[in-house]
Amino acid sequence: MDELVALCKRRGFIFQSNEVYGGLQGVYDFGPLGVELKNNLKNAWWESMVYENDDIEGLDSSILTNPLVLKYSGHESTFSDPMVDCKSCQKRFRADQVPPECKKEDLTEPRQFNLMFKTNVGPIDDGSSFAYLRPETAQQIFTNFKNVIDSTSKQIPFGIAQIGKAFRNEITPRNFIFRVREFEQMELEYFVKPGNDEQALDEWVQKRLNWWRDQGVPIEKIELYNVPTDELAHYSKKTVDLMYMFPHGLEELEGIANRTDFDLASHSKKQDELNITSNVEKNKHSNSKMAVQDKKGDWIVPYVIEPSAGVERGILAVLNEAFVEEDLGDGKTRIVLKLKPHLSPIKAAILPLKKNNEEIVTLSKEVKNSLQKLGLGRVILENTGNIGKGYRRHDEIGTPVCITVDFESIEDSTVTIRDRDSMDQVRVKISELTEIYKNKIK
Ligand code: GAP
Repeated sequence: MDELVALCKRRGFIFQSNEVYGGLQGVYDFGPLGVELKNNLKNAWWESMVYENDDIEGLDSSILTNPLVLKYSGHESTFSDPMVDCKSCQKRFRADQVPPECKKEDLTEPRQFNLMFKTNVGPIDDGSSFAYLRPETAQQIFTNFKNVIDSTSKQIPFGIAQIGKAFRNEITPRNFIFRVREFEQMELEYFVKPGNDEQALDEWVQKRLNWWRDQGVPIEKIELYNVPTDELAHYSKKTVDLMYMFPHGLEELEGIANRTDFDLASHSKKQDELNITSNVEKNKHSNSKMAVQDKKGDWIVPYVIEPSAGVERGILAVLNEAFVEEDLGDGKTRIVLKLKPHLSPIKAAILPLKKNNEEIVTLSKEVKNSLQKLGLGRVILENTGNIGKGYRRHDEIGTPVCITVDFESIEDSTVTIRDRDSMDQVRVKISELTEIYKNKIK
């Protein structure tokens, strides 16, 4: 973990947030390379969900959430962790995360601590008008259920996908970006006919394992954990967690839950007219019937299968898998990030051999522009004149190819293309570069 954290800071992936004022605990910023990696991971998820499935639509809902949403969702009453104080070191911990140095007799009885952040809405700060910062992106998918159906004519089974920030006032944020107070989720709510839920859950577990494999996290490195009944979230009938061996231990990367009809039914008006199977609070505020009609005209509240993944945890897993320290012989080593090319923050670096040579630099710019125009991600021209250093830096940040432009390039329109993983260098014609480049980074 220490090596990863150091690399992330040194190369501009991830910084402690608010660092100039001593930081803010449990909050991180993504630097120039981190933002590219994050966008690439989110794009890969979006593509696999929304673009590759005609039965899935996207959504981008608000972070500020009407308290009624989180009252009826059950978050106001249940979204809490047990907290204890240590009378000896004067610190607070989540009851299941007390460090071994704190003695049992020094701990207070656990108290429930609600994890939701509140903020004031409007100009009067008297507590009468507040909103929550959403603790999961899911709830606004449920509240938009009817809007999406009405505007897209979707019929079950279908899904709504969303990527966005979520906030939790974690008692003990820890392990770098693993457990933080501000993070992003990639969530799908997939609505199915009751009775088809169990099969749908199994199918989504398999699809999600395949997706992580495609991001460079092998299926063999993910353990499936059937969450025991007494640990299930209040809405869940069954949850399968994808557990990954993070640098600090085996922990949840993604959860795939069968949320039954709990959420839609909870947010629905006229609940008595619906055949609701879960135990929900009577809703006195909703103006929408969160149900669909079958061919006979009977109302059905769909069941929901929810694959929910954390972006930060995904990034940590992907970086952990990609990070390799390679022995080059003669006591030399190199650090290389063997990221899948579609995730690499920079796809290609163009390195002019001589930084002050106008012809070489002009040709380098032309090469950069021609590759950049393909729209496959960031291509960078690095005019330092130090090719060796450039190769080392780009190995460390996972750039799949470096392209060197030299004196020969001006004579015969060729360049050297160097592969990150094999370190092979091949001379190719500039006219053939686009095709070669496309094949290397696809
Ligand atoms: N909508 C369901 C839901 O929010 P969750 O298991 O609480 O379920 C889903 O969260 C995912 O969000 C987790 O698998 C994890 O990847 C990520 N996540 C949750 N809390 C987090 C935190 N404090 N910091 C970073 N990621 C977190």
